[in-house]
Amino acid sequence: MKVDGKHFRSIWRERDGWSVGAIDQRRLPHEFVVARLTSCEDAATAIRDMLVRGAPLIGATAAYGMALAMREDSSDAGLKRAYEALIVARPTAINLKWALDEMRETLAPIDPLERAEAAYARADEIVEQDVEINRGIAGNGLAVIEAIAAKKKPGEVVNVLTHCNAGWLATVDWGTATAPIYLAHERGIKIHVWVDETRPRNQGASLTAWELGHHGVPHTVIPDNTGGHLMQHGMVDLAIVGTDRVAANGDVCNKIGTYLKALAAHDNGVPFYVALPSPTIDFAVNDGIGDIPIEQRSGTEVTDMTGRTADGRLETVRIVPEGSPVANYAFDVTPARLVTGLITERGVLKPDRASLAAAFPERITTAAEQVG
Ligand code: MRU
Repeated sequence: MKVDGKHFRSIWRERDGWSVGAIDQRRLPHEFVVARLTSCEDAATAIRDMLVRGAPLIGATAAYGMALAMREDSSDAGLKRAYEALIVARPTAINLKWALDEMRETLAPIDPLERAEAAYARADEIVEQDVEINRGIAGNGLAVIEAIAAKKKPGEVVNVLTHCNAGWLATVDWGTATAPIYLAHERGIKIHVWVDETRPRNQGASLTAWELGHHGVPHTVIPDNTGGHLMQHGMVDLAIVGTDRVAANGDVCNKIGTYLKALAAHDNGVPFYVALPSPTIDFAVNDGIGDIPIEQRSGTEVTDMTGRTADGRLETVRIVPEGSPVANYAFDVTPARLVTGLITERGVLKPDRASLAAAFPERITTAAEQVG
């Protein structure tokens, strides 16, 4: 997507052909800084410290992390070490495991001397595949938006609510939840996005607002608690969110607060869509609510806030009384019954086992197959 007219991706191979460039998302929206990753350890740290984040981008970064590792040590032991270092970087997004499994499957059978080249080639494919998938999501989601626009008076705006950042910054390009929005905007549909701020890390306020703004898509940032009110007053036509993992039964794990938005949407008859690439489906998990481990992050994300002062300095301040305990569950699970449809690269699916299995039969695995 565009940043002030110039096309960017969130991650790329640098001109030297081997190191990896990525936008440092911790610095947005205040500073646009590019980081250079030169080792497997750099890639693992980038994922762990949320320099990169968002399920598909975590997978793409891990794939390049494996390629960087193969330059350092392409032996069987090196391959195992790299997989183990990257798999623990973040727990929720299943795209991380998917990408690492793809890389290991490609690399394990071949001569260690050929692994580095093969690793870069496979990582590049994973990156290009993400962009293609998101284009597919864009087209299928566009049909949903067009159907809503068709029921409105000519020239009336379609209002979409989104949560967290499932935009191009969370993927390689286009985004998942934002892909249909960008395409609708490109096609001249009048669209406006309500952007949840998404406490505690504010991915909506800092990232979604930044990317929509720099691409020229009309949007408004709202405090997390506002969505229900807007829905009650007919100010939201549909919600589209991303996801970090979809269980085989259609339950959706996404950024904390997604469940509350789905409840409000259900109560107000607002369609609630989840956009996802197929690597986000986890057929090994049958019950999203019971079986997806939820990442708990540092309490400082709740107690502290960072922003720019009027005189231009970046400052972190504490907003919670000293000594008050805090909890920081980073994700929640929205039950499939609250989801109107899953927007995938192969169509808009019902959120249930049969529909997911029929659309993506090649992705079906059991929990037993996933071990190791
Ligand atoms: O903790 P984050 O910022 O990695 O969480 C990101 C989200 O929850 C996104 O909505 C999700 O990964 C979908 S990204 C296309």
